[in-house]
Amino acid sequence: MEQHRLKEHPILPVPESDLVTFYWNRAPLTAQRDEMISSALIANGIHVFGHHHKDGTAQGIFCANGQCAKCTVIANGIAVKSCMVAVQENMMVESADGLPKLPEDVAALEFAPIEEIETDVLIIGGGPSGLAAAIQIAAYNIKTVLIDDKNELGGKLVLQTHKFFGSEEDSRAGTRGHEIGKILAAEVLNLDSVDVWLNSTALFVFSDKKVGIIKDGIYKLVSPKCILNAAGAREKFLRFPGNNLARIYGAGAFQTLVNRDLVRPTERLFIIGGGNVGLIAGYHALQAGIDVVGLVEAMPACGGYKVHADKLARLGVPIYTSHSILSANGTESVESITITKIDSAFKPIAGTEQTFSCDTILIAVGLDSLSEFTIEAEQAGIPVYAAGDALEIAEASSAMFNGKISGLKIAKAMGADAPDIPQDWYDKAQVLKSHPGAIKGYHDNPSPEGIYPIIHCLQEIPCNPCTTVCPTNSIHTENGSLMALPMYSGSCIGCGKCVLICPGLAITLVDFRNDKDFPTVTMPYEIGNYPVLVGDEVRVVDIVGNELGFYPIVNVTTNKAKLTQLVRVKIPQSCARQAVSFSVQEPAISEPMAATVLPQRLADDAMICLCERVTVGEVRKLIKSGISDLNQLKAITRAGMGPCGAKTCEVLIKGVLREEGIPITDVVPNTKRPVFIEVPLDRFPGGK
Ligand code: SF4
Ligand code: SF4
Ligand code: FES
Repeated sequence: MEQHRLKEHPILPVPESDLVTFYWNRAPLTAQRDEMISSALIANGIHVFGHHHKDGTAQGIFCANGQCAKCTVIANGIAVKSCMVAVQENMMVESADGLPKLPEDVAALEFAPIEEIETDVLIIGGGPSGLAAAIQIAAYNIKTVLIDDKNELGGKLVLQTHKFFGSEEDSRAGTRGHEIGKILAAEVLNLDSVDVWLNSTALFVFSDKKVGIIKDGIYKLVSPKCILNAAGAREKFLRFPGNNLARIYGAGAFQTLVNRDLVRPTERLFIIGGGNVGLIAGYHALQAGIDVVGLVEAMPACGGYKVHADKLARLGVPIYTSHSILSANGTESVESITITKIDSAFKPIAGTEQTFSCDTILIAVGLDSLSEFTIEAEQAGIPVYAAGDALEIAEASSAMFNGKISGLKIAKAMGADAPDIPQDWYDKAQVLKSHPGAIKGYHDNPSPEGIYPIIHCLQEIPCNPCTTVCPTNSIHTENGSLMALPMYSGSCIGCGKCVLICPGLAITLVDFRNDKDFPTVTMPYEIGNYPVLVGDEVRVVDIVGNELGFYPIVNVTTNKAKLTQLVRVKIPQSCARQAVSFSVQEPAISEPMAATVLPQRLADDAMICLCERVTVGEVRKLIKSGISDLNQLKAITRAGMGPCGAKTCEVLIKGVLREEGIPITDVVPNTKRPVFIEVPLDRFPGGK
């Protein structure tokens, strides 16, 4: 069967194949050794993993993070989340069609003692904040157990192939996220006082102050004196007709497939959400050679950094602001998407619908903090701290910094002789989590002579590596702060370091020295699957993708350390300073279909609870009848009673309650019950 895998990537090394055989519905397939079942199936072109027991509709992955239950398959006779279980040689994997049968095995279980471990600190989550905290805590030799549910440390950093924002000093700005993940992971694995447990999921913080953890399939109890919840966040889902089709992914799932597992899950992607997550995912798709048909954002402007949005627009991806998805169309899997313009009340404007052919829809409409462990620890009376996305949703650069602060707080709380947290740490943490600020105009550029950078970064964002990398100190921010806009004034020597380090790809270098009328403009370029050669005439564009003309490439160099190409293009003086990049994606890719597909179903026919296949309309009817208790809604409809434990639908149900005018303070929340994920019952007796 054809393998849908990346054969090359401009940033990530593609390892040699190490294949094993497994069986899908009895047919032999190959997988990369140790990859997750879901990735192996998608690499083999299989996107429908089963059919729902209630309505027979198709199921495929959504989160690839163990948080939903859409990717369930039967592996060696047991129902498992295919995104969390690795393929084994000769594994028999079957689609989950209807309700899985209980395994035949009825052998009596042997009871054995459950291992109990005492520790000073338990860190739940080995992502940017958990790792940064562990490093701080270890400086005081405090006994720590750090757990992560994946088979490697790094959390979301593993998925980030782009350079980070922030400052070089505090958040390794200019270094790619996955490299930062490796650096932090290596440091933590070398710490004597930190015991790292991979493949380990926290299940619940019990009232007897013990934390139940499944480690490599074995149940253990950990008694910590203090907990740091660094478990991250889960992705929000969205209501629209067709939202139960296969091939609708969260951004994290998409990045997991493409950037962690080097699987190519789609040929034509459409993105919902113009925050940083959606914008970056679009860039990652282009780096993987995937066509990005378009991106919709409901607000009048993208909420993510302007440099990210500009980068996508320049490469040729249309961004539809004040637009929303009307429906996902298809039989079992996504075949097209219909979008519509929306008014200021977010209502669709009739007659503005457009349908685009695509095979996958990526949803990036925000994240919800994983706050369960914090609440449970508080109820149990264990001192608890939170960091990273589990504390508040922000960039990973901010997560690393607030992890560092939490680590020092914990060290102090544990009685270590640690200094007070410097005020400037709090100040920096505040800046690093800032939302993007004002958009301003270009600074005046010097006259057309010599060589100097043009800075196309016009929005206040917490970032400044361009100022610290310059050997001649020629770039500084307007008022010296991290948030302020960078500007050039000085004596550029044309070293190109600012162009290479800029995570926004927002600096060009204009060189008038050889030819005033036709200067060369140096542009950063990272989309290796659209290779460029000297002599190519490229479609040069301005900051937001407007065409300036076709001009020739005169030089291409690759910086091996930064994995960025510097492409020099000869451009007339009249537009050289507006030139930022060149477009690579053909406009034809983003053409709407000739015939618009209008949804046959109403908006309230969309699923609100995917696990139990409950529609928005069913829930709305009950809310209109006066019910605002999530437990009652659950008891009547089963919405929230599915295997994900309401992780996906609770937020959506609260959205309908809000729409019906019920203040969130009047809503009775779902009663949360152990455990965090599904666990086979035989794991509990005897710690096996
Ligand atoms: S090219 Fe080099 S010298 Fe010129 S502004 Fe950029 S970093 Fe400074
Ligand atoms: S121009 Fe400077 S501040 Fe703006 S994104 Fe690039 S490195 Fe960051
Ligand atoms: S979506 Fe999982 S319980 Fe509702």
